[in-house]
Amino acid sequence: MVLKTPGELELMNEANRIVHETLDGIAARLRPGVTTRELDQFAERHIRARGGVPAFLNYKGYPATLCTSVNDVIVHGIPGDQPLREGDVLGVDCGVLYKGYYGDAARTFPVGAVGPEAERLIAVTRQALDIAVETVQPNRRLSDIGHAVQSYVEAQGFSVVRDFVGHGIGTSLHEDPQVPNFGDPGRGPRLRPGLVLAIEPMVNAGGPGVAVDADGWTARTKDGSLSAHFEVSVAVTQDGARVLGR
Ligand code: MF3
Ligand code: CO
Repeated sequence: MVLKTPGELELMNEANRIVHETLDGIAARLRPGVTTRELDQFAERHIRARGGVPAFLNYKGYPATLCTSVNDVIVHGIPGDQPLREGDVLGVDCGVLYKGYYGDAARTFPVGAVGPEAERLIAVTRQALDIAVETVQPNRRLSDIGHAVQSYVEAQGFSVVRDFVGHGIGTSLHEDPQVPNFGDPGRGPRLRPGLVLAIEPMVNAGGPGVAVDADGWTARTKDGSLSAHFEVSVAVTQDGARVLGR
């Protein structure tokens, strides 16, 4: 578990600022008829114009800047030429490498007007991330984060994905420790100032099961239900969590 210095945290804040600018730009461009490839091209242009490098592009052979996950796709959807339609639920995950440090964040957007279940799923998943961030306090235990997420999400009648987890982040996209969105409280290492975590709840409207497409990336709900995903990178501070890049 690597702890970052204040100088490193400022670079990670910059990397994450580029990520959030990119997500803001996607929100501004999102409407029925836009393709996820067009959003991906915007993202790559913006990241490079800001002096960053797309972190997911070529990561273990991943072919794009963004992950764009539509409806029953949980994470790792690959951008393509299918136009988005009114009522779709679009998860957008973006990673940036900037001056040697990674930023990683994701949001889920409604495309135009969406149905009531989609609306509630997006709101619950966003709230699950907020609860996770509020749980981050020095001296609390790592598994308190996942326990808080799971308790809230299941009380809302949805399920948390077990097959993918959050992670430490820094000079690598994925560092120790893993950050599950489920489990018992009071386990794992104590949170310490300088630790940086990418916290990323993935919530399914139906069951927690996952099936990966033949492309080796696209991860869908096994039961075809809708899924949503929000992520921020946070630094543990003396008095809680600092959300980087915002
Ligand atoms: N936020 C995701 C993660 O932490 C995105 C990775 S996509 C990949 O793993 F293409 F880079 F794998
Ligand atoms: Co991540």
